[in-house]
Amino acid sequence: MPFLLELKPLTSDLLTAAVELDRLCFGGLWTIEGYRRELNSPNSDLLGLVIKPAAQESRKINESEKEKKEKLALIAPSSPLLIGIGCQWAILEEAHITLIGIHPDYQGKGLGQTMFHALLKAAVARQMQRATLEVRASNQRAIALYKKFGFREVGRRQRYYQDTDEDALIMWLNGLHKPEFGQLLESYELLCRDRLAKSGWYI
Ligand SMILES: CC(C)(COP(=O)(O)OP(=O)(O)OC[C@H]1O[C@@H](n2cnc3c(N)ncnc32)[C@H](O)[C@@H]1OP(=O)(O)O)[C@@H](O)C(=O)NCCC(=O)NCCS
Repeated sequence: MPFLLELKPLTSDLLTAAVELDRLCFGGLWTIEGYRRELNSPNSDLLGLVIKPAAQESRKINESEKEKKEKLALIAPSSPLLIGIGCQWAILEEAHITLIGIHPDYQGKGLGQTMFHALLKAAVARQMQRATLEVRASNQRAIALYKKFGFREVGRRQRYYQDTDEDALIMWLNGLHKPEFGQLLESYELLCRDRLAKSGWYI
């Protein structure tokens, strides 16, 4: 059965789910107040990736079986389920990507790149010229994702992450305002959709 996804600005009814997802993805980075601040900030794009509720016919299975299958992601949930979050801040002409996380059970299916694409698209819509982010030097998955979209490492903050004493890589992407980048984003959108469709996801 195909899964229907929605990628949209986070709404206040999803704040508690966002904090829970934050705990799973980042070990508890932002509080509910932090998320609410982003949600209300005119300079932030806080996006959520939601699995839409199951169609009526898929609810005919018995309740305990449904619960098990929902957990295993074999069927769509009976209420909206937040499985991805992403945030970018617009500061002058720079987009600062502050957060991207996909629920651990749903990683590796093309959802991260779909979210990242949406954040960059939001930055382009705000007429940002450059994008930047910081990432743990050991986070190879995220670094590969960012490089895939053209980000390059330009520096390091030594021992930036206090919990592990780890360095932060500083990455940048220039030329967001150029027409070529708009075209690139369009082609990535198709790639993202194709990849999702292969995993049985439709957005
Ligand atoms: C980083 C993260 C967002 C990627 O999301 P995802 O849904 O698993 O990624 P996708 O399936 O969309 O993969 C997109 C690209 O990411 C990179 N990637 C994803 N999983 C990878 C892995 N296991 N190893 C190496 N690269 C990987 C690849 O470049 C991949 O493109 P490819 O499949 O064409 O090679 C996800 O792993 C995550 O939420 N991690 C925990 C939170 C985190 O570390 N966030 C970043 C710092 S804020």
